Amino acid sequence: LRVVVLAGGLSHERDVSVRSGRRVADALRSTGVDVVVHDVDADLVPTLQELRPDVVWPLLHGATGEDGSVREILELLRLPYVGTGPRSSRVAWNKEIAKGVVAAAGIATPDSVTLQQDLFRELGAGSVMDAIVDRIGVPLVVKPSRGGSALGVSIVDRPGDLARALVASYAYGDTALVERAIVGTEVAVSIVETEAGPTALPAVEIVTDGPYDYDARYNPGRSQYFAPARLDGDVTERVATAAVTAFRALGLRHLGRVDLIVDDDGVPHFLETNVAPGMTETSLFPQAVLASGTTLAGVYRDVVERAAR
Ligand code: DAL
Ligand code: MG
Repeated sequence: LRVVVLAGGLSHERDVSVRSGRRVADALRSTGVDVVVHDVDADLVPTLQELRPDVVWPLLHGATGEDGSVREILELLRLPYVGTGPRSSRVAWNKEIAKGVVAAAGIATPDSVTLQQDLFRELGAGSVMDAIVDRIGVPLVVKPSRGGSALGVSIVDRPGDLARALVASYAYGDTALVERAIVGTEVAVSIVETEAGPTALPAVEIVTDGPYDYDARYNPGRSQYFAPARLDGDVTERVATAAVTAFRALGLRHLGRVDLIVDDDGVPHFLETNVAPGMTETSLFPQAVLASGTTLAGVYRDVVERAAR
């Protein structure tokens, strides 16, 4: 079995992808798979045509990897690959649109509005800021509508800080999503498709001193994780059901991760999905696999074999 792992790419999450790729490649090799790790560069198409792998695993985070564009190339080359197809990736990658799809499937998601950079520039940081704060309330969260690893994300406690948070978000993309901040427990539910359909692994609970930002995500010891999450039995079930519902509604395939906040009444609120969840040493998906009592090598091998069919 030959697998090409695509890692790197030109997104803001390049470093994360390189680390994810290395880890997945090592785990697959330990099961006897022939793995080639390749970056996204001008040689991508000829390299794939020459290697003709049984499966490609696009472990590219952020734009091109998660927005469907590289997956479009894999479709073009008729190469089997791990994960969600291009069209569903594009929907999942856009948090605003994904929230709409998941809300229509009956899952709660925090109230939000989006604001385009061009319009923000034209309106200036004036009355529209007040209108947003009136509608959403504080605290609120500002994030790039299309982005990952919490890059460009700010929590705004004081209305006067909203404009600055928008500017920080625009550094990563032209659409900012302003979302009500839900007080509660932050959890990530990793999902793997099996014979029985999409199956939720144990939810991983995230506890941080400050925001769960890039630094808190990728530096060991900066965040505390509980896997499984410390939730009551019925809430655990509700969270898993919400995550699987989101996975299905968005048309995700093979694997993914759904991020949610559980409020103090035990209601899960959908934040976003990741079609290429991080697989680094500190990432959530591998922690969920280990909490489920299986091994990374076993799960990754199963995923690749499913994709090869
Ligand atoms: N976007 C990063 C890789 C994650 O969600 O894990
Ligand atoms: Mg993400």
